[in-house]
This record gives sequence, C-alpha cells and structure tokens, in this order.
Amino acid sequence: MEEQLHKMAAEAKEALARADSLEALEEIRIRYLGKKGELTRVLRGMNALPAGERPRIGQLANSIREVLEKELAERTAEVKARFKQARLAAESIDITLPGTPFLPGKKHPLTTVQEEIEEIFLGLGFSIAEGPEVELDYYNFEALNLPKDHPARDMQDSFFIGPEVLLRTHTSPVQVRTMERTAPAVPVKVIAPGKVYRRDDDATHSPMFHQVEGLAVDRRITFGDLKGVLDVFAREMFGESTRTRFRPSYFPFTEPSAEVDISCVMCGGKGCRVCSHTGWLEILGCGMVHPRVLEMSGYNSAEVTGFAFGMGIERIAMLKYGIDDLRLFFDNDLRFLAQF
Ligand code: DAH
Repeated sequence: MEEQLHKMAAEAKEALARADSLEALEEIRIRYLGKKGELTRVLRGMNALPAGERPRIGQLANSIREVLEKELAERTAEVKARFKQARLAAESIDITLPGTPFLPGKKHPLTTVQEEIEEIFLGLGFSIAEGPEVELDYYNFEALNLPKDHPARDMQDSFFIGPEVLLRTHTSPVQVRTMERTAPAVPVKVIAPGKVYRRDDDATHSPMFHQVEGLAVDRRITFGDLKGVLDVFAREMFGESTRTRFRPSYFPFTEPSAEVDISCVMCGGKGCRVCSHTGWLEILGCGMVHPRVLEMSGYNSAEVTGFAFGMGIERIAMLKYGIDDLRLFFDNDLRFLAQF
C-alpha cells in the first residue's frame, strides 16, 4: 500500500510538471485528489491493513495530499502568470507609430478677406451694420432713387420673390435702413458686409456673391473725405505703394459718382495682362449720397452730406490672391481652399 501511494505521488508530480494549462491542472486535481480520485481509491484499501499499520499509512496519505496540493497551487500560479505575460505582450501597443493627423480647419478665403476689410474700416471709426438678404423693392431700389421704371434697374438683374420682395441685388439697402434708423441724428459711419444675389453666372459673376457697403453722413462731409478714406483702404489692403484713381461714373444713388481703380497689383502700373495693359484695376463704385436719397431717409440735405461706396469681396480677393475664376470660391474643393 505504501508503495502504491509513493508511486501515485510520483505520477501525479510528473503530470503536474508537464501540465501547461489551467484545464490540464484541474484534470490532474480531479484525477488524483478528487473525491473519486486516485488517493481516495488507494485509501479504500486501508480496511484490509492490520490495525497497527493504519495510522502510519494515514499520515503518509495526508502528507502526500499536502505536498500535491501545494505543488498544484504553485503550478497554477505559474501557469496564470505565464498567461498574463502572454496577454500583455499580445495587447501592447506600439507608441512609436505615427498618429492619424487632424487636419486643422481654416477660414474660407472670402471670410478672411471680408474680415480684413472690416478691420481696416473699424480702424477708421466705422461700425458694422447688417440688413436682410430678402429685401423689399423699396429699400433695394426705390429709396435709392431707382423708381420702378428706372432703366438703371437693368444693371442688376434680380431674383424677385413677389411683386415687392426680392433677394437684395446689392448691400446698398443697408444704407437706407441705417439712415432711417438714425435720422436726423449724425454722424453715421457704417460698413455693411453681406451676401447679394443677381441673375448672373460666368467666370467673373456668380448668382450669389458678397459686397461691403460703406456710408458716412455728417455735416460738411466732402468728396475729399471719400477719397482719403478709400485711399487709406487701398493702401492697407493692397500695400503701401498702391495708388488710387477716381473716374467719373454714374449711380442713381450718388451724385457725383465715381469708379475707383487701384494701380495694378501685378505690374504696379506698368501694364500687363491682368490689367489689360492699362496699369489700373477697377475695385469699387462710390460717390456723394444723392440729396434725394438723404431726404427719403429722413435727412435735411441742406444740412448734411454723405459719401457711400460699394465693393465686391470676391473681386478684392481675386485681385489680392491672383485668382482668375470666381467659381473656385464656391466649388468647395479643398485643393483650392487649403492654399489660403
Ligand atoms: N450698389 C452698387 C452695386 O452693387 C455699388 C455702389 C456704388 C454702392 C456706389 C455705393 C455707391 O454705395 O455709392 O453695383
């Protein structure tokens, strides 16, 4: 019996040494130490032993159980540790791999240019005014001295929504709204940036585009003030060496009216393809607010005068960045937009 026990113990130890998974270890436990296991089976034979031998064999069996249990516990711990190591190794991440870059967002070039324009005029003491894009005929045309049958309405092919309602064709209605709100008080010094709409679509015209309107009304405002303000604007926007030129023109809401050119941003005035060899580029329209416009908005044109101007933001941006197709601004092609 003693021999049987030693043999079983040796077998169990060997099995334990070989086992390399928790399942295998559990099998060994059941096989040797379980209720119906080897050890129990051997001990059943105790009855056949002489009474004097039983305590010794009992002790031996107990010590073998203890040794095997201890060994089992150790092996279990070892196997668990090995599994943990393996799992950690498998799950480890390579922190030296380059990450996925986040592309930083950017302002649209038209937003950038609009903000630059705003900054310049804010610096000259103007504030920013806004008005609706869906506008009444009255503000878009009539109060700007463009009565219903006026031929100059043709200059601005319009999207009408109803007989008296349209998408504004320019930012000039904001002049009228601002004067109505302020009159008879002076001074008024505002710029009005925003979207405008016309039935036009080609490389230099889009049915939706952006303008910035300017308006100053006060006592003794002169054409000299207008020239000074626009001269500063041109130099700040296009560089210190930029010169301006005022050409007589016509707008129903100003008298006298002018168109303003800047010396060509490409050739500096020598003449090149961009300026059609004239040395000059047209950038905006302007003039002295027509007395009738002042009167309609609630001012006494004998007491106050004003100047006004309006420019297209796309045009300014195209000149500043040398872009030759206005539609690029609205295609949302990142290859274009990412360059600004
Ligand atoms: N509203 C004109 C246009 O869209 C631009 C303009 C010209 C605005 C002269 C003005 C101005 O205020 O005085 O073509």
